[in-house]
Amino acid sequence: MADDVERTQTPIIFAPETYQYDKFSLNESQLVKDPIDQFTRWFEEAKNDKSETLPEAVTFSSAELPSGRVSSRVLLFKELDHRGFVIYSNWGTSKKARDIQSNPHGAINFFWKDLQRQVRVEGITEHVNRETSERYFKVRPRGSKIGAWASSQSSIIKSREELDQLTAESTKKFEGQEDVPCPNYWGGVRVVPLEIEFWQGRPSRLHDRFTYKRKSEHDNWEIFRLAP
Ligand SMILES: Cc1cc2nc3c(=O)[nH]c(=O)nc-3n(C[C@H](O)[C@H](O)[C@H](O)COP(=O)(O)O)c2cc1C
Repeated sequence: MADDVERTQTPIIFAPETYQYDKFSLNESQLVKDPIDQFTRWFEEAKNDKSETLPEAVTFSSAELPSGRVSSRVLLFKELDHRGFVIYSNWGTSKKARDIQSNPHGAINFFWKDLQRQVRVEGITEHVNRETSERYFKVRPRGSKIGAWASSQSSIIKSREELDQLTAESTKKFEGQEDVPCPNYWGGVRVVPLEIEFWQGRPSRLHDRFTYKRKSEHDNWEIFRLAP
């Protein structure tokens, strides 16, 4: 109803208590020229911070075309190389798989609460080669490897029992086999960045923000300070 849309709603949750960002600052002289190097520094600091329990947890966003419908989910960032940020998943059946098939643009967001920092990566997704995917698959625990075979990620299933049954079948399939191979639909996707923003929380929400931008992978990075 139109008047229901218009009226000021009674909130179920309203203005949850928050905290001041007052620990660090970021200025031009602290930045290095290459954002991959800048990221490496910040990631190292997040890794070394005892309160950052899962610094590699990222929000990955993708958008399906032609609808433009956006979706996000938490993933674990697993690799950084000179071309970009690599995440691992099922690229056969998942929603994110469908999204990037129709639209290669993707974004990865890091939030390090204790350091009061955010890093936003926007770029173009591409599948890494088989060798790269297999290298990571090899180091996963056996149960996770079997899970990758058993679960058609994001497909609708009837019950937990159905999943248990599929897992049992995959376990049996690889019984006595030392190495569980990497399914061909499973692997890495690299986000090749076109923009990387480093955000440092500051008091009164007057944060320090620097963004590195380039038009394509072959262009040089330019650095801009952004208003908070
Ligand atoms: C902390 C955390 C880590 C996760 N790591 C991964 C991951 O590395 N790969 C993955 O495919 N899903 C991971 N998931 C599950 C995803 O959030 C998501 O449920 C799944 O990828 C299906 O998403 P989609 O249907 O949007 O493609 C993780 C979830 C959490 C909460």
